[in-house]
Amino acid sequence: MENRSQWGTRLGFLLAAMGSAIGLGNIWRFPATAYENGGGAFFLPYLFALLTAGIPLLILEYTIGHKFRGSAPRSYGKISKGMEWIGWWQVAVSFIISTYYPVIIAWAIMYAYFSFGQQWGGDATAFFVGDYLQLGDPGTFGAMVPSVLLPLIAVWAVTLFFLGRGVKKGIEVANKIFIPTLAVIFLIIVIRAVTLEGALEGLDAFFKPDWSAIANGQVWVAAYGQIFFSLSIAFAIMITYASYLPKKSDITNNAFITGFANSSFELLAGIGVFAALGFMAVQSGLDISEVVAGGVGLAFMVFPEIISQMPASGFFGFLFFASLVLAGLSSLISISETYVAGIQEKFNVSRGKAVTIGGGLAAILSLAYATQDGLNLLDTVDHFINNYGVALAGLFEVVAIAWFAKSLKEFQSHANSVSDIQLGTWWRICLGVITPIVLGWMMLQNLKAEVTSAYEGYPIEFLFNYGWVVAIGAMFAGALLTLKKWPGRAAEASNSESEDKEVAQ
Ligand code: ALA
Repeated sequence: MENRSQWGTRLGFLLAAMGSAIGLGNIWRFPATAYENGGGAFFLPYLFALLTAGIPLLILEYTIGHKFRGSAPRSYGKISKGMEWIGWWQVAVSFIISTYYPVIIAWAIMYAYFSFGQQWGGDATAFFVGDYLQLGDPGTFGAMVPSVLLPLIAVWAVTLFFLGRGVKKGIEVANKIFIPTLAVIFLIIVIRAVTLEGALEGLDAFFKPDWSAIANGQVWVAAYGQIFFSLSIAFAIMITYASYLPKKSDITNNAFITGFANSSFELLAGIGVFAALGFMAVQSGLDISEVVAGGVGLAFMVFPEIISQMPASGFFGFLFFASLVLAGLSSLISISETYVAGIQEKFNVSRGKAVTIGGGLAAILSLAYATQDGLNLLDTVDHFINNYGVALAGLFEVVAIAWFAKSLKEFQSHANSVSDIQLGTWWRICLGVITPIVLGWMMLQNLKAEVTSAYEGYPIEFLFNYGWVVAIGAMFAGALLTLKKWPGRAAEASNSESEDKEVAQ
């Protein structure tokens, strides 16, 4: 009989998968990416990427986890021995993401607090990089910034606490608290935002299509990048989460629900953010294009200024940053679970030890981003690990499974045997033909951009050390971990049995 930890309920699994997908990428990244890439016209590439790559890959990852019931490396290794490496590579990518992701959550905690007194004053950008982060030159590290360090410790304490309690009593419980709370908070924010003066101008800028953008390859690259990050695919996460599903679980339906819930939240975030930007534009007499900014800039530089101009600003500012904290925490838990599960199975140790070793190491490394160099490091590592970690590992994943192992038909039958919605040839065409071609082409475009200009103008040596070395290092780390043999079946069974006792119903 199986002794593997399991989700308590189907809703528990769905909330955890949604909790993983809905993260900083939805609130912090999507609105600006959509705006920069043609506004309303971005939705076509976005929808195409969601339907031809996002959901098909999610179905594939759920199927792999459900069928092989192991961590990502273990499951890939069962498809074919040589593929264990891809699993570890994806785990290593998640490990690296888990070193900087909590830092953004830590900033959000402080900003939730700053909201009450609008401590950023009249110039939110100067406050963020100067007073708060005390940003130094790239590569200098500098001193620790206590107001980043302290909330960072809190973020890790919460994350490791829930991870330590196991799948059902920890991860599932955390998501059952975080996700409904997040939905309520976010709804309040969006309703407030769309009823602000100028909201319609903002929404007009967001939805008005720039059709010429559709022909631009970069827009398609951005759409695929957004879908991968946002759906948590090629991160080893969804395989790990699906490995805790009971045998009788509908795979395809769950994937559609997760995918559409994530995209709905993303759209809602876009509406809320642009309505608020419209408000700011009207207040300051500027054009929307002059107030919009991407990524970190949007959440920590532009939003504080909007908050300052809003009625009941302390309350709404707090809610906005609290939503970032909740969305971020549930994703961080899932990102970290990939290596907790991998370490546990490979080294045959208890969950507690795996959480201490994996989470402890990630927490120590995350301290580098709490220094004065934090923002430079974070920006660089995030850029390289997304392009040459997540997207590249995703390309290897589909090519290895569809072209080399030729397993798509087998996985299709597995998914169909437990699901209501039956997969057809379309699923195999999406994964075996469309996704590899688009991702391969995307990789070439990205590399071309990389060698023709230094990312964000950072010094080449800095980009080499913290961009290329980190991204390529993840691949090597993956290869290194395959050298150790898996423990015998008996040892593994006894380990998962003791683990199960902690989390059994
Ligand atoms: N899927 C997670 C996010 O959107 C990683 O932030």
